[in-house]
Amino acid sequence: MDLGLKHKSVIVTGGASHIGQAIVFAFAGEGARLAIIDKDTAQAERTATEAKQRGAPHVTVVSADLTSHSAADEACQHAMQQLGGIDVLAANVGANWPKFFLETPPDSWDQLLHLNLSAAMSCVRAVLPRMIEQRRGSIVATASTAAFGEPRQSVYAAAKAGVVAFMKTIALEYGRYGVRANLVAPGLVLPDEEEELGTESIWRDRNSIMNDAQTEYVVRNTPLRRLSRPQDIANSVLFLASDETGRQLTGQMLTVSGGFAMR
Ligand SMILES: NC(=O)c1ccc[n+]([C@@H]2O[C@H](COP(=O)([O-])OP(=O)(O)OC[C@H]3O[C@@H](n4cnc5c(N)ncnc54)[C@H](O)[C@@H]3O)[C@@H](O)[C@H]2O)c1
Repeated sequence: MDLGLKHKSVIVTGGASHIGQAIVFAFAGEGARLAIIDKDTAQAERTATEAKQRGAPHVTVVSADLTSHSAADEACQHAMQQLGGIDVLAANVGANWPKFFLETPPDSWDQLLHLNLSAAMSCVRAVLPRMIEQRRGSIVATASTAAFGEPRQSVYAAAKAGVVAFMKTIALEYGRYGVRANLVAPGLVLPDEEEELGTESIWRDRNSIMNDAQTEYVVRNTPLRRLSRPQDIANSVLFLASDETGRQLTGQMLTVSGGFAMR
């Protein structure tokens, strides 16, 4: 099926590694023009090179720390300038370092909230005026099943639940201008052994995030008895982003977890 994304202008935040990289490759396969905004320039360049090989006619890398509002805004403005417009924003950047709440130092809360909530808000704020002006645009944010509440994820869960409420509100406020705002909520997505991860990917220290026993627990409690792969998340992002498959979808969250979460 033609998703109608050929030559569309797409920004992917946190697009250098893992899920973000899979989102970049999925849009590349549809012939979209891409901007990757990421802190890890070297890994973003590697992803950009492969995205071109996979069919993207143009890929720009924009280096930025998206936890800063001004840096995020500047990065999005630069990306839109390079792309010559904006059709899709995949607001994907985020990270978590799982800990029980009392072991999560208050001075780490800001970082978690900025990376998982404010970064999406800053990028949405940057792209919305153009989308409103052209009466068209699609925004897909990456939430998490943690948004429903999960142990060792309190502050991250609060930030992701915030993104869900934020995106639904954007859908309510700007739908009249043809802007669609949706979310994907991945369950656990581990990198393959051979997957090349950038220096900023949380999965470089995989065992500190998720040990084997915790992974087995998730698989045992997943009806499909398997974890999601980055491509599973990316396919859902494409589905929501495309005006062919997602034309009448806004304010929706697609949970991609093999049934681990059913909300
Ligand atoms: N992997 C999972 O199990 C899982 C589950 C649910 C939700 N998610 C969400 O999916 C998204 C992607 O996660 P992932 O597993 O691919 O993570 P990852 O750590 O592998 O990749 C994150 C990307 O963001 C970039 N990045 C990190 N901090 C940044 C900053 N301050 N400014 C700009 N770029 C920055 C990194 O360089 C990297 O390319 C996140 O929003 C995450 O919360 C992941």
